Amino acid sequence: MLSHQARQASECVAPGVFGERIFDLVQQLGQHSELPDGLMCTYFSSVHKVVAAQLRDWMRSAGLTAEIDPVGNVVGHYAGAPGATQTLLVGSHYDTVANAGLFDGRLGIVTALVVAEYLHRAGLRLPFHLDIVAFSEEEGVRFSAPYLGSGAIAGRFDENALARRDLNNISLAAVLLKEGVDLAAIRALARPPKTLRGYLEVHIEQGPVLLDRGLPVGIVTSIAGSARFRVTIEGVAGHAGTVPMALRRDAVAAAAEIVLAVERRCSAAADLVGTVGQLAVPHGLINVIPGRCELSLDVRSSDDTTCEAAISDLCTEIEQIASRRRVSATVAELSRHRAAPCAASMQSALAAAIARAGVVPFYLPSGAGHDGEMFAGVTDIGMLFVRCGNGGISHSPLETVTVDDADLAARILVDVLINLD
Ligand code: GLV
Ligand code: MN
Ligand code: MN
Repeated sequence: MLSHQARQASECVAPGVFGERIFDLVQQLGQHSELPDGLMCTYFSSVHKVVAAQLRDWMRSAGLTAEIDPVGNVVGHYAGAPGATQTLLVGSHYDTVANAGLFDGRLGIVTALVVAEYLHRAGLRLPFHLDIVAFSEEEGVRFSAPYLGSGAIAGRFDENALARRDLNNISLAAVLLKEGVDLAAIRALARPPKTLRGYLEVHIEQGPVLLDRGLPVGIVTSIAGSARFRVTIEGVAGHAGTVPMALRRDAVAAAAEIVLAVERRCSAAADLVGTVGQLAVPHGLINVIPGRCELSLDVRSSDDTTCEAAISDLCTEIEQIASRRRVSATVAELSRHRAAPCAASMQSALAAAIARAGVVPFYLPSGAGHDGEMFAGVTDIGMLFVRCGNGGISHSPLETVTVDDADLAARILVDVLINLD
């Protein structure tokens, strides 16, 4: 257990110890990319494996015992004081969207890493074991299946996702088979809830709220619920010059109406957002009436009832649009996650540490999804948001945080860890 002196010492880690190092490590990770002109790191690509190996090596140099698990999570273990039984998980994800920012996910991993390194060098042992986890898959880019890494550890790996195929028509099952991973190995990763002390994550806010308020950090109250769909519209392809307008069954024109319906319906409640982020016209050509169009649909709200109502209305409206335009529309659900509240105990532990750092505790919900969602209901979850620069832009190379804010987040994490029990 920690002495009173140790608690006091760690509560006042000098400013500046962590910030530059966090930046340096995040930038080093950002040098590995699947794109020549932007950051991209998707599940089990060769780049993804290089990043995993780098994180494992850094964890080992930081004094942790670290391994890459069968689903690609990098797990660094820092043993607790004698008598410790439970484990606190602290982590975030290292996969990215396409043309990503440097900090989404990686900020949380690297912050946890430098904090564990600090505890190790200072010889501070906690009353629980600490596992730093770099989750392998949170964004759902390659297989439209988010949370593959955290889902496995939380015992909620989505086995339906095994049949999903990437753009090269390779299934998730085939990828895992090639990596020598079977279902039993994935199931074995599930941590029994009783063994967990909780789950903590530091993450860039990815929005403008903290920036507008002039606050460096904030306490997350809940993670929004979300649902993702693939909508496929089948019309009739035809000659762009010969088919009269009234006789067309144009799949893209139907898709355009659907996009506007999503915008309209999801503007109807304050706490609701809807996005069509992908539109594909297979075999689309300038002189062909589109016969098929595929679009993605992402709907979110921190209120599950609001989210469900919007999804139901949108499904009805998609049917109506399709029937009026004499095309067919099928809506396939890819994922659905309920809103996840952060534990009151974790929120108050974060608030106390933030106040001790001389900052006013401020509470805000997360509109973005996070790995913590998988652990809600399994163990107590808590999240610390770090102010996002550039007007709050994220999922973009413009995403940024300051060195000082990253430094503060790490110092707050040290304080929370030391004072949690
Ligand atoms: C992940 O960043 C998501 O919220 O989609
Ligand atoms: Mn993201
Ligand atoms: Mn993220």
